Amino acid sequence: MAKIKTTTKYVCTECGAISPGWMGRCPSCGKFGTITEEIEVPAETVKTKRADYQKPIRLSEVRQEKLTRIKSGIEELDVVLGGGIVPSSLVLIGGDPGIGKSTLMTQVAGSLSTRLKVLYASAEESQAQVKMRCDRLGIKGDDLMIMNETCLDNVIDEAEGYDVLIVDSIQAVYLNDLNGSSGSVGQVKECASRLMRFAKSSKTTVFIVGHVTKEGAIAGPKVLEHIMDTVLYFEGQPEDNYKLLRAVKNRFGSAQEVGVFEMRENGIFGVKDYNGIFVSEERGQEAGSVVTPSVSGNRCMPVEIQTLLCKTVFGMPRRMPLGIDYNRTAFLLAVLEKRAYMPFFTQDVYVTAMGGIKLSEPASDLAVAIALASSHKNIAVEKTTCVFGEIGLTGEVRGVMQADKRVAECIRLGFKKVVMPARNLPQVEKYKGKIEIIPVKHVYQAIKILFDNVQNPQ
Ligand SMILES: Nc1ncnc2c1ncn2[C@@H]1O[C@H](COP(=O)(O)OP(=O)(O)O)[C@@H](O)[C@H]1O
Ligand SMILES: [Mg+2]
Repeated sequence: MAKIKTTTKYVCTECGAISPGWMGRCPSCGKFGTITEEIEVPAETVKTKRADYQKPIRLSEVRQEKLTRIKSGIEELDVVLGGGIVPSSLVLIGGDPGIGKSTLMTQVAGSLSTRLKVLYASAEESQAQVKMRCDRLGIKGDDLMIMNETCLDNVIDEAEGYDVLIVDSIQAVYLNDLNGSSGSVGQVKECASRLMRFAKSSKTTVFIVGHVTKEGAIAGPKVLEHIMDTVLYFEGQPEDNYKLLRAVKNRFGSAQEVGVFEMRENGIFGVKDYNGIFVSEERGQEAGSVVTPSVSGNRCMPVEIQTLLCKTVFGMPRRMPLGIDYNRTAFLLAVLEKRAYMPFFTQDVYVTAMGGIKLSEPASDLAVAIALASSHKNIAVEKTTCVFGEIGLTGEVRGVMQADKRVAECIRLGFKKVVMPARNLPQVEKYKGKIEIIPVKHVYQAIKILFDNVQNPQ
């Protein structure tokens, strides 16, 4: 095929921003060392008007298609997808190398191949390597088709007529008519949009595996999020057996769903009872920890927040949150200092959400503040107490979403006391008698109730 005439441009591998020349730092996303030289492929020079375009019609006249979902065979994945796989959708599975993307996709392929026509196109591993993994995972997959190909044109040609296509990974495939090596921003973007057109025109569901890169040597999945119907990311520490699969975008369901998986020798499995994962049994003995019922999508999970304060050795106190936003932590420290008269400026502050989970909802504010206050006062919070609520700059405790679901979960798990926003009281009236409800309007009030007149148990 004839090569297309090209020009050079400078692209950020993280966010895809284009700069006029090479720079050490991307002016768009602020990341360092991510700008790379790329070969630009000009858009088709002659754009012709399509004669067969769709004329506008009344909304009432639009023919409704019933959204049927296919069960993937892995329950946790179906939950994250919003109830199952939507036919002809484009799904991106992102995550650090080695986190379990290929393992999960092989299991999905194995399960689906008993009912549907599935093609697993592996650009990274040979057919024999995929077979070895299948054997380890106990997948027979007699009807599963495996292809070892890096040229995406061949994969798409071959995938015609299949119900499901899995491309592992997007950074390892390339298109013949584009310059630039595989993994470059141009290649990755164009490969993804080619797969999108293929998915929509052929009614094939396409799963794309994408590595998240720290060094920016190859383009990360961030640059193609906008093309996808659904974007799922694996989270978790590499040394941890538990992994979280989180939806960050979903055109067919909630974008806050989280699936909990456990990596074992014989595969990756959904965890049904996740209550012990983010909460320790030993809590309540030491000061500085408290449990909050955290809601993600349709789920409520109890998560323990732990804090530790150490005297600052050097002039600058350190703030080290893990799983909680840095700015949110600084904000809560400032509120505690000004509104609850608790100074932290001589202390290094460490805050973690247990089990490697990321808490992004503001409803965990009060729990973080209480855990910090507990460390500051060196008084432990009782094991059977849980806390939730959003905190404003004046120290007021604001109402949160799904308060009744949180309280119901606390009751189910045997908590005895819940400290929560007074504003949410009407939603939880029905639970009176089952759990002690402590409504609060201000963070200072919550601290007084929990810690005043309480003897330090240590
Ligand atoms: N023979 C094995 N026994 C146990 N675990 C293994 C074996 N081979 C690979 N793994 C583990 O499987 C995990 C997932 O690998 P993989 O699914 O290929 O990751 P990814 O595709 O996300 O890069 C790795 O962390 C690896 O440690
Ligand atoms: Mg892999």
